[in-house]
Amino acid sequence: MRQCDLSERVFNDRVMAVREAGKTTMPVVTVHVREATPDDAEGIVKVLNPIIEAGTYTVLDTLMTVDTQRSYVLNASPRGVFHVAIDPADGSVVGFQNAQPIAAYTHAFDHVCDMGTYVALARWRQGIASQLFRASFEALVTKGFEKIHTFVRADNPVSLQTYQHHGFQIVGVAVRHARVLGRYVDETIIEKFLL
Ligand SMILES: CC(C)(COP(=O)(O)OP(=O)(O)OC[C@H]1O[C@@H](n2cnc3c(N)ncnc32)[C@H](O)[C@@H]1OP(=O)(O)O)[C@@H](O)C(=O)NCCC(=O)NCCS
Repeated sequence: MRQCDLSERVFNDRVMAVREAGKTTMPVVTVHVREATPDDAEGIVKVLNPIIEAGTYTVLDTLMTVDTQRSYVLNASPRGVFHVAIDPADGSVVGFQNAQPIAAYTHAFDHVCDMGTYVALARWRQGIASQLFRASFEALVTKGFEKIHTFVRADNPVSLQTYQHHGFQIVGVAVRHARVLGRYVDETIIEKFLL
């Protein structure tokens, strides 16, 4: 038997083993996580727009333009954390995570941020979100945040499972909270304490 046949078999056996264990179905890919810059806007939009177009994962319902995304990154609060995951193989943006303060009208919520996480459709279950979560938790603590409070669509179990995997707890359901493509959607309210 040729060496490569053996390696392929070992690889396939490993993939089957993790599938049977209900774990990651793809090999984990190491990405480079760093703060987003305005020049990442095009890469971010390439990740985000197909997810918006799918219509089932996010409450965002309008495709993002590169210019709007660039100015969002440029004007985001310096207290927030906006991370991109870069594939070292080709330098492309394969995911991003944005955590921002939830209120500017009072200091009562200065310790709380929200969070959104997006990974390119073709790159799911490769551990990319997990690497973003790890980097963002650390950066958020450094910036003085103690708690993340956010919403996920109640009809998006993958999202909920991902956040729960990273220690988020369900604290409620906001009923008919979003209306997307003419349909009401409940939102699951989730929280994680960072300290
Ligand atoms: C949710 C999302 C960010 C997950 O990204 P990802 O890179 O695929 O997640 P990871 O590979 O790091 O998975 C981490 C863990 O989350 C859970 N998880 C992720 N995808 C899952 C799935 N399809 N089924 C069950 N659990 C899943 C698992 O516990 C997984 O750990 P494991 O693979 O070791 O079992 C991605 O699916 C996505 O972009 N969805 C669309 C946008 C969205 O819904 N965002 C959340 C609301 S803002």
